Amino acid sequence: ADHNYDYDVLVIGAGPGGYVAAIRAAQLGLKTACAEGRETLGGTCLNVGCIPSKAMLHASEYFDAAKNGAMKELGIDVEPKLNLDQMHAQRRDAVKGLTGGIEFLFKKNKVDWKKGYATFQDAHTVKVGDETVTAKDIVIATGSSVTPLPGVEIDNDKHVVVDSTGALELPKVPKKMVVIGGGVIGLELGSVWRRLGAEVVCVEFLDEILPGMDGDIRKEARKIFKKQGIEFKLGTKVTGVSVKGKTATLTLEPAAGGDAETMEADCVLVSIGRKPNTDGLGLDAIGLETNKRGQIETDHDFRTKVDGVWAIGDCVPGPMLAHKAEDEGIAVAENIAGQTGIVNHDVIPSVVYTWPEIAGVGLTTEQAIEKMGGDKSKVKVGKFPMLGNSRAKTNHEPDGFVKVIAEAESDRVLGVWAIAVPAGTMIAEAALGMEFGATSEDIAYTCHAHPTHSEAMKEAAMAVQGKPIHV
Ligand code: FAD
Ligand code: NAI
Repeated sequence: ADHNYDYDVLVIGAGPGGYVAAIRAAQLGLKTACAEGRETLGGTCLNVGCIPSKAMLHASEYFDAAKNGAMKELGIDVEPKLNLDQMHAQRRDAVKGLTGGIEFLFKKNKVDWKKGYATFQDAHTVKVGDETVTAKDIVIATGSSVTPLPGVEIDNDKHVVVDSTGALELPKVPKKMVVIGGGVIGLELGSVWRRLGAEVVCVEFLDEILPGMDGDIRKEARKIFKKQGIEFKLGTKVTGVSVKGKTATLTLEPAAGGDAETMEADCVLVSIGRKPNTDGLGLDAIGLETNKRGQIETDHDFRTKVDGVWAIGDCVPGPMLAHKAEDEGIAVAENIAGQTGIVNHDVIPSVVYTWPEIAGVGLTTEQAIEKMGGDKSKVKVGKFPMLGNSRAKTNHEPDGFVKVIAEAESDRVLGVWAIAVPAGTMIAEAALGMEFGATSEDIAYTCHAHPTHSEAMKEAAMAVQGKPIHV
């Protein structure tokens, strides 16, 4: 280490951004510490986000398949009985295994874990609890937390008005759950409790769910969720929630204005987005300001305006996704070490882990047309229904489609969107293709194994050329 500092690098926050940055920095020979205030490493993602939500989604999927007749159709007669305690236990187990794994990786790579919340004293000094730590370079990776809804008080311990953390831990299945916000969290956790027996109503402010995704995908996704039993109230805002005992009463109003109505529920999930964690970090002490959305701005190399201070993950602009944070973690460490760390922010896949999964990478159809100056003829779109895919059909999974969007002149792929049971896994090929500058013809002429869901990707690419085989 530089003799003036305790460490070469100090990372603040041990989520997917921070822990990856710390490990990479150590791998590159830098003396590294990571401050984390939680009891366990792994941040939102491993403790209360990606991992526990997927544990509940996976388990509830099996329960649903047994309950709704999907297994019966395959010749498996079962009468499922929910053991919610065991379902929660296996969720906690998954979290424990993975967070413990990061602790192991820190030891293995000689990253020192400074336990506590860090506050800046100056650009090279932070306080973590009673300890003062200095470093030549400091990476802010403090992540994000739930956006509160004015007039709605979240109390996870009472299990009535909860955020995503509370919704992962409900001790019993609610009779009726109202989900505020038809985004990723609302649909994933709404699906979990719907499958386990709750009546679920999703209230969305906009006139369609899943903002930011391709228009066709948003519509199709809502149709599928509706068929599964989730009720939607679109173009509606929640103006208040009052709680009496174990019952919540919501006040709803049309987003465009109009008469209010009320609705009762025994559980309300607030999932209207997340906001960067910067309070208490002492950004004032180093003269660093956040933008209007509370994010820390950086340049392409993840440098903030303050020399020696870098920032990555959910607390900087861009999609709030674990894999985006991880890639930025690798890149920032490489940049600090004097290498060239780059993240291509145009090719970041996003996945909703419902059944079927919903995934996309690159531009939506709407964005592609806008990019071409509003000229629809400059964009070619190929679509292939899962109904035409032999594997999906055989597995009784007919819902969804794959959509490939290409620039008409060059045939370069601009975006790929999919609703399919394994869409999250399928989208990796599209991301790889786009990273290599693939044309739709490149994908169409790549041999895909049969019978796989991925053949639908090939056929959607063939559809861009106007010639799929199986429709
Ligand atoms: P975080 O994971 O939020 O980690 C930041 C860490 O910094 C925290 O542990 C915090 O305690 C710590 N910290 C904050 N301030 C300080 C301080 N001053 N000093 C010390 N430590 C501090 N993303 C996906 O890609 N896929 C998914 O399936 C997915 N599912 C999700 C499900 C849910 C329910 C939620 C809530 C989120 C989900 N996400 C998912 C989003 C994902 O969790 C985040 O994008 C990701 O965790 C961001 O990583 P990060 O390192 O930037 O921040
Ligand atoms: P979100 O931004 O995905 O969705 C919020 C939704 O709430 C939007 O549709 C918005 O229009 C709506 N909304 C906002 N205010 C409202 C109001 N007052 N009344 C009704 N609706 C309102 O946010 P969400 O679902 O909370 O998730 C936060 C973030 O966590 C996501 O943006 C995502 O980055 C991350 N995440 C990712 C997952 C994944 O990758 N599978 C899973 C879960 C979370």
